[in-house]
Amino acid sequence: MPSELAILNIRQVASPPKAGPLRGKEMSFLEIKHDVNIAIDGGKISYVGQEYVKADQYIDGSQLVVIPGFVDCHTHIPFVGSRSDEFIMRLSRKSYMDIMKAGGGIRSTVKEVRKASATRILAESLGFLDSMLSLGVTTVEGKSGYGLDRENELKQLKLLRALDSIHPVDVVPTFLGAHAVTEEYRSAEEFLDLMAEMFDDLVGLTDTIDIFCENGVFDEDQSRQYLMKAKKKGFKVKLHADELSASGGGKLAVELGAISADHLISADDETLTLLAESETVATLLPGTSFFLNEPFAKGRKLIDLGAIVAIASDFNPGSCNIFDPFFIIFLAVARCGLSVEEAINAYTVNSAKALCLENEKGRIEVGYDADMVLIRAEDYREIVYSFSRDLVEGVIKNGKRLR
Ligand code: NIG
Ligand code: FE
Repeated sequence: MPSELAILNIRQVASPPKAGPLRGKEMSFLEIKHDVNIAIDGGKISYVGQEYVKADQYIDGSQLVVIPGFVDCHTHIPFVGSRSDEFIMRLSRKSYMDIMKAGGGIRSTVKEVRKASATRILAESLGFLDSMLSLGVTTVEGKSGYGLDRENELKQLKLLRALDSIHPVDVVPTFLGAHAVTEEYRSAEEFLDLMAEMFDDLVGLTDTIDIFCENGVFDEDQSRQYLMKAKKKGFKVKLHADELSASGGGKLAVELGAISADHLISADDETLTLLAESETVATLLPGTSFFLNEPFAKGRKLIDLGAIVAIASDFNPGSCNIFDPFFIIFLAVARCGLSVEEAINAYTVNSAKALCLENEKGRIEVGYDADMVLIRAEDYREIVYSFSRDLVEGVIKNGKRLR
């Protein structure tokens, strides 16, 4: 039987070398193959090697570098509305937190999302997914957190489900009800109790709970109480940790066995060491540092200490209006000290691990999902050096060519 699709004579295939997660030194290698053929059947990779493959359809790979589709394990899709006004305010030295404390920031997107129809949010989010897919992003995590009341949080989670079923990109939903406290609540505790009361209603919509653990938002103790309740109900947990100040989030992530601790810009050395010795994925979001003009997380140090490091975009309307994986990888290399190989592993196999998808996604190997980026280049290192050149020649998602 011929295969459904084959890519023949590929100039170079660059893939994480072994099943993830990869930690520390393991992250510095990619498995490189030249002049190989890939066959695809039933949405999976069915062959990688030098034998000729008979197929119904062919792609000429002779001018291409093929890498796994990018897994963006941290975005804030779905949302609507622009916060360009805040961006302008930051140019005159107002900080992200100043704007948030004055009632803007997350809360201004909450107002937009609450009043927007589900149809409008869906349409705009589908547009984001189209753009991301054309840049080679084949799996996207998205969070609620712009509803901040029962009705609107559920609205966002249902939209994430709808996005996953309508759009070819795989969409993985996370509940971030604990994103900020709005005016209608008396205290952070009261608000968190309310969000925790929703846990039973989340079954079937998501299996992961996130919190913005940050001085001035939800402190370490509040985050611990809340996430312990989530764990008791059987949810996986993750945190926005040590983003704008050292707030204890990274340590708490290790203590609770969180699947990931994200941001870590302000994490101290003790936190980095604890993370490196744990199974918790340390997710770098260098687009946020760039967009907010904040320092960059110590990616080099985390890897040297032996951590499982992932990279993602944090795409959202406030702190990082960027979803281009090529630019994010460029920042991880040029500003966080990762090598090109480490950055590619971090945006594929390790970000798949942050979503518990490491056995299906993030590698070019038989049995993995046929999600691949076809890049017009001679060598994978061009991905970083020529990040702004739109190198994407094609994207294969679930075995189908979509660009
Ligand atoms: O990851 N820090 C909290 N959440 C987002 C920002 C969301 C927003 O500003 O709308 C972040 O930076
Ligand atoms: Fe975020």
